[in-house]
Amino acid sequence: MQNFGITNPVVEQYIERLLPQRHPVLAEMEAYGYDQGFPIVGPLVGQFFAQVAVLSGAMRILELGSGFGYSAFWFAWATGPDVEIHCTEGDPDNAARAKEYLRRAKLDHKVTYHIGDALTLLRDEIEGDFDLIFCDIDKWEYPAALQAALPRLREGGVLLWDNVLWSGKVAAKSEDEWTTAIQQFNTAAMGEARLRAHILPIRDGVLFAIKEAAPKKGRPAKT
Ligand SMILES: C[S@@+](CC[C@H](N)C(=O)[O-])C[C@H]1O[C@@H](n2cnc3c(N)ncnc32)[C@H](O)[C@@H]1O
Repeated sequence: MQNFGITNPVVEQYIERLLPQRHPVLAEMEAYGYDQGFPIVGPLVGQFFAQVAVLSGAMRILELGSGFGYSAFWFAWATGPDVEIHCTEGDPDNAARAKEYLRRAKLDHKVTYHIGDALTLLRDEIEGDFDLIFCDIDKWEYPAALQAALPRLREGGVLLWDNVLWSGKVAAKSEDEWTTAIQQFNTAAMGEARLRAHILPIRDGVLFAIKEAAPKKGRPAKT
């Protein structure tokens, strides 16, 4: 198990042992990710994402930074047959690997992989609004990704953002480009009038937000 030091690893391992057995293909992906040191969200976050997808009734889901499909698998596996999942990934080898895993689990019909830079794809190629947007691209891009994602999230939709605690490094002053970008993103997202946001300290920190309706005149956006 990968641990980034937010929660006591013994506690994480305890919760992980309580999780139901994973689909065999998902278990295989998990083993591959850990073996390769590939930063997948892991089962604690995956299970949470699956619950959020079901609870929100999301029909169109967008992932920014999909890797070899581990997090997309959780969304695809948890949701109904008519749910569309759009993945974005810069590395075509990761996309090919994802497609093969999803095909084997008979989930590939729900998932479209877009290959290239996630924010460019979102601007130029991927159409429509989304009910749920999950971001896990390179961390220096987080502030720009928030600006790109917000207008494409429908009112009442859900934002999920991974690694927002960055091994706890965000809590101290930093000169590191990725850490400062995450700090900037956290400040912007938590202070954004259109979002009701919170940071959950699971694994490496997940920002969970709901997009509110545009405030009516005379009523504060948040109560
Ligand atoms: C942390 S991994 C994603 C893991 C995946 N969400 C999961 O949990 O299974 C980040 C992935 O995003 C890709 N990536 C990073 N920045 C990107 C960008 N700007 N556009 C497209 N892909 C990007 C990387 O190639 C990598 O595969």
